[in-house]
Amino acid sequence: MNETMDQNRTHTGQTGLGYLDIQAAVGISKHMGGYPATDELHRLIALHQAAEVLEIGCGIGVGPVYIAQKFPCQVVAVDISERMLAWARQRARRAGVRERIHFQRADVLDLPFKDNRFDAVLIESVLAFIPQKGVAIQEMIRVTRPGGHIGLNETYWASQPDPALLAQSFSIGTEILSEHDWRQIWDATGLEARLIQTYKLDTRGELRDRIGWIGWRSILPAWGRVLKLMLTRPAARRAIREQLDAPTGLIEALGYGLFVGRKPNL
Ligand SMILES: C[S@@+](CC[C@H](N)C(=O)[O-])C[C@H]1O[C@@H](n2cnc3c(N)ncnc32)[C@H](O)[C@@H]1O
Repeated sequence: MNETMDQNRTHTGQTGLGYLDIQAAVGISKHMGGYPATDELHRLIALHQAAEVLEIGCGIGVGPVYIAQKFPCQVVAVDISERMLAWARQRARRAGVRERIHFQRADVLDLPFKDNRFDAVLIESVLAFIPQKGVAIQEMIRVTRPGGHIGLNETYWASQPDPALLAQSFSIGTEILSEHDWRQIWDATGLEARLIQTYKLDTRGELRDRIGWIGWRSILPAWGRVLKLMLTRPAARRAIREQLDAPTGLIEALGYGLFVGRKPNL
């Protein structure tokens, strides 16, 4: 492991370097659906009414910066990776919203916040990497105030994956559930006004959303760092190759869901 990488608590393939470790090293993070999905999630969890919002697994910080630009609320943004948080702080400074966002290292499975604190808590494309999805959701509910909103944007299998697709998804450290399993998890939360909206994916749209989310100004230097890693670090080269060798049809087999609910009043 070199100094530019901090290991996430995720699966690391055959090379010892996980998908998220490489993303953190080069400054890339994203979720399915890009800005349109995020705008819809913000609307569903009523961010326009929130005074304090928690975003979990903020990656390079696109999400919390966008919230601070759109809404007058205070934002707390956490991620398990210090490397991701460094990119996020830099992005917030450049966008002129650094003082509105408190960044902190935290694990969604053990959030360092008191009960009933936030008006809204959201997470985008993090639980796919975490086997204990129910524990994470209970932590999100715990730190939300009664009457506050919880919102997830998470990937699911839209069709039964063949063994090659399943192997690829395990190799990048994800444990993706079917839509049916997600619906059961969401129903079991006991949240009020539960809502699930699902969307299908296609490769072209996913690429467009990904570039739109990260932005050319960040994506071009990030691809430069990918190239440099591939040229200078054999382990990183193998890990990137392993991840680029995706079987065709992976994106088409996936969908993403917006899962929203309100914490009952005491
Ligand atoms: C696919 S990225 C999504 C980042 C961001 N939500 C976005 O949409 O750009 C997943 C993020 O979750 C973070 N993460 C992984 N496990 C975590 C955990 N247990 N607690 C908090 N964050 C975690 C990773 O470090 C990474 O930044």
